[in-house]
Amino acid sequence: MKFNTSISKIVPGDHIIRGQALSALIAESSFAESIYLLLKGGKPSATQAVIFQAALVSVIDHGMGTASSMAARFVASGGNSVNASVAAGVIALGDYHGGAIEKAMKQFAGIVSAKEFVAKALQEKTTMYGFGHKIYKDADPRVGQLLQVCARESFTSPFIDLALAVETEIASQKGKKIPLNIDGLIAGILLELGFTPKQGKGFFIIARTPGLVAQVLEELQTEEPVRRIDEEEITYTGSLPNRSNT
Ligand SMILES: CC(C)(COP(=O)(O)OP(=O)(O)OC[C@H]1O[C@@H](n2cnc3c(N)ncnc32)[C@H](O)[C@@H]1OP(=O)(O)O)[C@@H](O)C(=O)NCCC(=O)NCCS
Repeated sequence: MKFNTSISKIVPGDHIIRGQALSALIAESSFAESIYLLLKGGKPSATQAVIFQAALVSVIDHGMGTASSMAARFVASGGNSVNASVAAGVIALGDYHGGAIEKAMKQFAGIVSAKEFVAKALQEKTTMYGFGHKIYKDADPRVGQLLQVCARESFTSPFIDLALAVETEIASQKGKKIPLNIDGLIAGILLELGFTPKQGKGFFIIARTPGLVAQVLEELQTEEPVRRIDEEEITYTGSLPNRSNT
């Protein structure tokens, strides 16, 4: 069986990753820079490295109440291994949680006018990926924090400007704030850095996995098996749900 790869190769006494010696990466490269190198095939500039790292950190964990954390913890509480439990969390990343980066990247790349995009989305009642949040109804604090790092590093992008313009247009056309969320800002940043939408999905998996590992380890170390939703939280409706998209 023959395989081709441009990622890495074991050589005598060292390992080559995207043309760089692992020995040199161990000595000089940060984890974020090395992830950038692996995904993109080349090393980031100093500014790109700072922005990429800040974006990774911004989504490293977002509490045990997220869909991925709950999935991971439930699987752990059933008596499963760390790897099976973390994998369950990764599987929970989808179009509305984590996976929105990929969707938002595709969406931003196709927008010509923020005004027309929002008008069409509101008229057709389609989801604008990278906007809205279950908790943050006015502003996602992580967006402001990451934008501050961008400003400090003089990192600008037409994609970030577009994301902010869409946010403004939504508020004006809908008469209600649906704020730019962290997935939306990261989508703009990754487009500016030249990543593809699929790499955007990979980015979130990489960034959130440390959080999922921590959530799973805490569940295994501190909680009794097995988790169950309280019966008071469950309403028996006795009829089939009427959801057009299921
Ligand atoms: C995350 C999400 C599921 C939260 O949904 P939610 O809590 O039901 O949102 P809200 O209750 O604040 O919704 C308020 C209104 O805005 C609309 N809305 C919210 N987010 C929207 C979006 N991204 N695109 C279009 N409309 C949206 C809702 O349909 C609702 O409309 P209505 O008042 O006319 O009925 C939703 O915002 C969404 O799907 N966002 C896109 C996916 C995404 O970017 N996820 C990453 C989150 S970090």
